[in-house]
Amino acid sequence: MLSPHMLPAWKALLAHHEEVAPLHLRDLFAGDPDRFDRFSVCLDDFLLDFSKNRITEQTFRLLMELARDAGVKGWRDRMLAGEPINNTEDRAVLHIALRRPADQPLELAGQDIMPAVEAVRRQIADFSRRLRGGDWRGFTGQPIQDVVNIGIGGSDLGPKMVCEALKPYQSPDLRSHFVSNVDGAHLADTLAGLDPARCLFIIASKTFTTQETMANAASARVWLVDRLGDAAAVSRHFVAVSTNQAAVRDFGIDPANMFAFWDWVGGRYSLWSAIGLPIALAVGAERFFELLDGAHRMDEHFRTAPMEKNMPVILALLGIWYRNFFGACSHAVLPYDQHLCHLPSYLQQCDMESNGKSVNRAGEPLKTASGPVLWGEAGTNGQHAFYQLIHQGSELVPADFIAAAEPPLETGDPLLARHHPILLSNFFAQAEALMRGKTEEEARRELEDHGLDEEKIDQLAPHKVFAGNRPSNAILFRHLDPRTLGMLIALYEHKIFVQGAIWGVNSFDQWGVELGKQLAKAILPELAESGAVTGHDSSTNGLINHYKDLRSTES
Ligand code: F6P
Repeated sequence: MLSPHMLPAWKALLAHHEEVAPLHLRDLFAGDPDRFDRFSVCLDDFLLDFSKNRITEQTFRLLMELARDAGVKGWRDRMLAGEPINNTEDRAVLHIALRRPADQPLELAGQDIMPAVEAVRRQIADFSRRLRGGDWRGFTGQPIQDVVNIGIGGSDLGPKMVCEALKPYQSPDLRSHFVSNVDGAHLADTLAGLDPARCLFIIASKTFTTQETMANAASARVWLVDRLGDAAAVSRHFVAVSTNQAAVRDFGIDPANMFAFWDWVGGRYSLWSAIGLPIALAVGAERFFELLDGAHRMDEHFRTAPMEKNMPVILALLGIWYRNFFGACSHAVLPYDQHLCHLPSYLQQCDMESNGKSVNRAGEPLKTASGPVLWGEAGTNGQHAFYQLIHQGSELVPADFIAAAEPPLETGDPLLARHHPILLSNFFAQAEALMRGKTEEEARRELEDHGLDEEKIDQLAPHKVFAGNRPSNAILFRHLDPRTLGMLIALYEHKIFVQGAIWGVNSFDQWGVELGKQLAKAILPELAESGAVTGHDSSTNGLINHYKDLRSTES
């Protein structure tokens, strides 16, 4: 397979990087009053400003050429046409079908999949209406008050992130909880204080074999049956979301209470499927469908907008510019929105499980770096934690700033309105500070204004200098409503896709998570056996044996 570094545009970018690296964003802005207009794109009220990136018009042209040389359009069309682009699992990648209008057929292996998609949507809507309306009741006849989603990875992070993001739209009568960690503390802490008669458990697992989810589901069932005193209660308190009907039945959940999805939905791309059931229960099916509509809006933008105006393509290329030409190892996601506090961890799975690869689709070692470490935190908390490094550290950390211009519509709370301008002033200021920096001259002048003597100024000035020239994107929309959130998530999904297409990796498998799972399976029985273990390396043996000693002696 042709490595991207052999493409003419890649070679041109390498040479061009030498010219651009010394340029300062401050000067680029000073030299071009239209820079913002030149390097920003709008879709409805959703703005992507990418003008604070270390690019010139020539960089932008070359990056677009790279996308063309790498055949991004072809890969996009193959994905949209349902070709099995997940080649190591021989699967299509069709999460876009989950947010597609039902009256637009989409064929997979000669069959229109939209009727099945629509049937599950109707099942979700029906169940949500019954549960929220108090018609679906628990075993003792009480309405449900707490929904506990048990799942991990894609069966947890997406719905958890969205439920938090749409908190202002949630019904106060129904609380959402998410249990993922196999550490019993997660389940025990969540269940403490809940009334089993008013709990609904959603067991969410694409495979229905994941160790953590199955262990948590089994313990939740014991907890419920112990407290309600009858195994028959399970049918009123457990539903499943899975592709594996046999395993759902074996667990004891009536297939009538199962919500299906399909192998062409990757786990980390599944919140649009029945995996989104907790979302529909929390905010209502109509809001869930608005989320899907928003994502579909971005799908259409990705499908039809010219590359130069295509937000996912632009974000992907800028990421590649920093990762492969500036050597940036990480990328920060900085939502200035408390309700988006789970977005960074959601995107960590989406991005790092997708593009954290070191072989190409043909299994050959990559000759270029692939996905960066993605991290972040809701603003302004990050400012008082790690922004020091982003501003003055030795690493270049490109960042995405995300904010809504107004607090969510649904909350009439004046407190939010009062705080919002303070929040947004920080959103604007941090990106500006990263870009501009502070020169030595400015730093010295400030110290002089504070009345410091020459010696003190000499001593402090180097610490007060900000090099600036630190790139960022800004995403700004009106409200964090379901539709906008759908657009935002789909934007990142397609960005990840475009990057994978250019690096030549399969963004839709995740073999890297398997080895640890296999080893844990082998180690679990060893922990219960008496005597020392000897079958591992000396470190693993030593750790397991120390654990056994600690467990066999009193503290
Ligand atoms: O972490 C590996 C993984 O396979 C993810 O890709 C997936 O989202 C998660 O485990 C959970 O899998 P499942 O939904 O099958 O329980």
